[in-house]
Amino acid sequence: MPQQGLQQRTSWPPVVTNERGHLVIGGADAMDLVERFGTPLYVLDEQAVRVRCRAYREAMGGAGVIAYAAKALCTQAVLRIVDQEGLWLDLVSGGELHTALAAGFPPERVLLHGNNKSDEELRLAVETGVGRVVVDNFHELERLAAMARRFGRRVRVLLRVAPGVEAHTHEFIRTGQQESKFGFDLATGQALEALEHTLAEPYLEWYGFHCHIGSQILAVEPWEQAARIMMDLAAVAHQRTGQVMRELDLGGGLGIRYVPGDEPPSIEETVRRIRAAGGGGGGGARPPVPGRIRGPGRSIVGEAGVTLYTVGSVKRVRGIPAYVAVDGGMADNPRYALYRALYSAVLANRPLEEPRERVCLVGRYCESGDIVIPELDLPVVEPGDVVAVFSTGAYNYSMSSQYNRFPRPAMVLVRDGEAEIIVERETYEDLLRHDRIPPSLQSNE
Ligand SMILES: Cc1ncc(COP(=O)(O)O)c(C=O)c1O
Repeated sequence: MPQQGLQQRTSWPPVVTNERGHLVIGGADAMDLVERFGTPLYVLDEQAVRVRCRAYREAMGGAGVIAYAAKALCTQAVLRIVDQEGLWLDLVSGGELHTALAAGFPPERVLLHGNNKSDEELRLAVETGVGRVVVDNFHELERLAAMARRFGRRVRVLLRVAPGVEAHTHEFIRTGQQESKFGFDLATGQALEALEHTLAEPYLEWYGFHCHIGSQILAVEPWEQAARIMMDLAAVAHQRTGQVMRELDLGGGLGIRYVPGDEPPSIEETVRRIRAAGGGGGGGARPPVPGRIRGPGRSIVGEAGVTLYTVGSVKRVRGIPAYVAVDGGMADNPRYALYRALYSAVLANRPLEEPRERVCLVGRYCESGDIVIPELDLPVVEPGDVVAVFSTGAYNYSMSSQYNRFPRPAMVLVRDGEAEIIVERETYEDLLRHDRIPPSLQSNE
């Protein structure tokens, strides 16, 4: 419910305004945030993140755990929130694990993924005692077993499987198809072979199978299909080895709203239907129902984020949408350049004004592909206006770069109108931090 004095438009994007007619995010006036912290600015609504963590936990009930996929947005403050909400973490690199440990996240609630984990990452996982290592291939299986033996530590293992499910999403974020680079192939028997190898290793403890079929998925059926396939695999594994799968991890991937018309199923419906699919256990030769793990990222933080930019220039040429250039772009949000991802936006300083022109929202990077939103209807835009782009909480900051040597933006966390920095704005000095001029170049002669 909007607070007193605030108005909320119900259609997408979710525009809340205050008595000054400004956009409000997490109770804070967007223009005040701009004045205080500058632009470009990532803004994260803390309550929106917590609400989604709770929705997932409640939907899962006692049937298993929700592991936040930190690849969507990984900062110490975000991981603290996730920890407070009692979720686990789904991590894919030593850097993410280091961030989690620095944030005080308990390693036993961490799952470590990755299709090419380094020895250093495996060592860190074994030494710190992460909850599960999700093994992706035979080579890793051998290296992990050797590492576990070396440290004399038992490691709980899930095996990643490519289940042969095609999710209807962009090909670059589809991962469950048979020819995927991720996981043991199901059709050719690799998954069972990997299980047999795991069971032969005294320091590896097999907990179950994992699959992740893709991201920004707007229908439940592909997961229901994946759940059934994985339960069939568990039944065959049981027959073949006598082992019971304790956990089934179906990854993440639930889509969010980016533009009008995006209608993802709710968190509750998704979790409930997937739990039901293939989970009958019961009669016949089927083993008991395993504990469930889900690894959502985007659907926890995506809609909780808004990026604020200042318009620097407007180029109007008759016959084409006006180029509205903002002070950010493909380095803080590469998703249009990567997968033609679409977004919605309004002017934060006058969000309720009627649209009057069609614009192409571009950034300040030296690429024609530096597009934030290719077609957007806005009031007549002028330099100095502030553009708010919605649903940028996931895969924006975490995919950002310093391309063209622009320092990365700051990120603030807003709650009940209060804002706090959770990522400092980078400076020019940060750009030079890792540069070295070797002795051979130090003299100008
Ligand atoms: C193994 C795994 N789990 C979870 C996720 C999170 O997906 P999403 O952010 O779409 O929920 C990904 C994303 O690529 C993934 O590869």
